[in-house]
Amino acid sequence: MESKKEKLVAQLRGKDKIKVLFVCLGNICRSPAAEGVLRSIVHENGMDARWEIDSAGTSRYHIGDLPDNRMRVHARRRGYELNHRCRQVQPYDFDDFDIIVPMDASNEANLKRIAPSLEAEGKIVPMIEWVNAATRHDCIPDPYYDGAEGFETVLDLLEDGCANMFNEMN
Ligand code: 4NP
Repeated sequence: MESKKEKLVAQLRGKDKIKVLFVCLGNICRSPAAEGVLRSIVHENGMDARWEIDSAGTSRYHIGDLPDNRMRVHARRRGYELNHRCRQVQPYDFDDFDIIVPMDASNEANLKRIAPSLEAEGKIVPMIEWVNAATRHDCIPDPYYDGAEGFETVLDLLEDGCANMFNEMN
């Protein structure tokens, strides 16, 4: 049977515009990093006009803040400048975006809770499902209470997942 992800990819492949929203808890570590990584891949391939990329958090903790300094430093070392301002995800995001990408199961459950319809729920495809590399992780792990290694793991997983997302939608 066709998976939710395969169905969504089939719908979006070849479309003029693809709108992606990455979602995590705080919107200061994982989802703004995902936004920066995909934006960079899209830009390097000259496809800025086709992709609209944003990120949001399920919580209200950091609204208006720049990404966490540790995430910014690790991302910058790989060439990504993260300048997103934190915002909270809203039910209308399901109207504005084609794909909504939670980083872990808790983010996914929170998104399902605010999805305004079954069709809207069909837009949710977890980030780990885009990752093809062999990994022991079943989600993009929250790096907030971790050391440097946690931030590097997040970036490794996001680089793989975003490259696959970009390629599968072409
Ligand atoms: P994020 O990481 O969800 O990847 O942005 C976190 C950021 C902040 C908190 C937790 C996770 N916090 O508890 O404030």
